[in-house]
Amino acid sequence: MTDRRVALITGGAKGIGRETARQFGFSGYKVYISGRNSRALELAQDDFSKNGIDVEKVRSDVRDQAACRHLIEYIEQREGRLDCVVNNAGMSMRGDSGTTDLDVVRAMVEINYLGAVYISHYALPLITASKGSVVFISSLTALHGMPMVGPYGASKMALKGYSQSLRLELAESGVHIGLVYVGLTENDPDKRIYNSEGALVPLVRPSNRHTQRQVARNILRCVEKRKPVMILTPAGRMADVLFRYFPGISQWAIKQWAARSRLYGQGL
Ligand SMILES: NC(=O)c1ccc[n+]([C@@H]2O[C@H](COP(=O)([O-])OP(=O)(O)OC[C@H]3O[C@@H](n4cnc5c(N)ncnc54)[C@H](OP(=O)(O)O)[C@@H]3O)[C@@H](O)[C@H]2O)c1
Repeated sequence: MTDRRVALITGGAKGIGRETARQFGFSGYKVYISGRNSRALELAQDDFSKNGIDVEKVRSDVRDQAACRHLIEYIEQREGRLDCVVNNAGMSMRGDSGTTDLDVVRAMVEINYLGAVYISHYALPLITASKGSVVFISSLTALHGMPMVGPYGASKMALKGYSQSLRLELAESGVHIGLVYVGLTENDPDKRIYNSEGALVPLVRPSNRHTQRQVARNILRCVEKRKPVMILTPAGRMADVLFRYFPGISQWAIKQWAARSRLYGQGL
């Protein structure tokens, strides 16, 4: 068994996942990154190697239950341990909740929720042995239903219930379960999301609150400080208080904000 701590970052070749893999690498972890796109995995691994970060890529789709099992078995065979899983792989969408193509709704559940459940399920024996961490990457859209991102937000909301149950069940085991609510973050230029008909389209946004590196550092902090829940950005934390204690005002405020910011319309 290797002496070094080992982390798996799903979706670790792009965007927030790639920056998270970098931060874990800088912290001394051996990092495994997974995703579907071989080219993106190769580019990320080359980039990491040039910067002296020990990263290994594995092509794996979180929608495929058997592939999730093989991924964890592969890490176990190679390292004999796993200290941290960051369930980062995810896809977003835009579309009204009532009319969005049901294949898009299924994709949200399968990638954002079930994918994280499959990986966690197979990883937990190793994580329990190392008294390690399982972290789920959620979104501020999971604090309250938002227009035009309902199926996405709902799939992320499911992570709250799942992670809360795990935390209670594993309370005596020394395992850390973290949930990070991420706000609007800079994207890779080629990031794609589903439109309401299921086509992959570019994500265009007028502004972002965080860089990928800021989010990645917070994810690492969630693990190092063993924080149960982190809501990123001051606006996210304020919104959480508003949604909890002032549901009526929240409805009104969300409608105003969504209309004015044009963040969730973009005519997709
Ligand atoms: N960016 C934001 O503003 C924001 C805000 C809140 C929450 N988040 C969450 O943060 C996470 C990362 O977002 P991001 O902006 O970095 O997205 P991104 O640039 O689109 O990256 C998504 C990653 O997930 C992987 N992925 C997607 N479907 C997969 C599948 N079926 N199996 C395995 N890997 C899969 C992608 O790799 P492949 O394409 O190669 O499979 C890619 O590496 C997501 O969970 C997202 O919901 C992002």
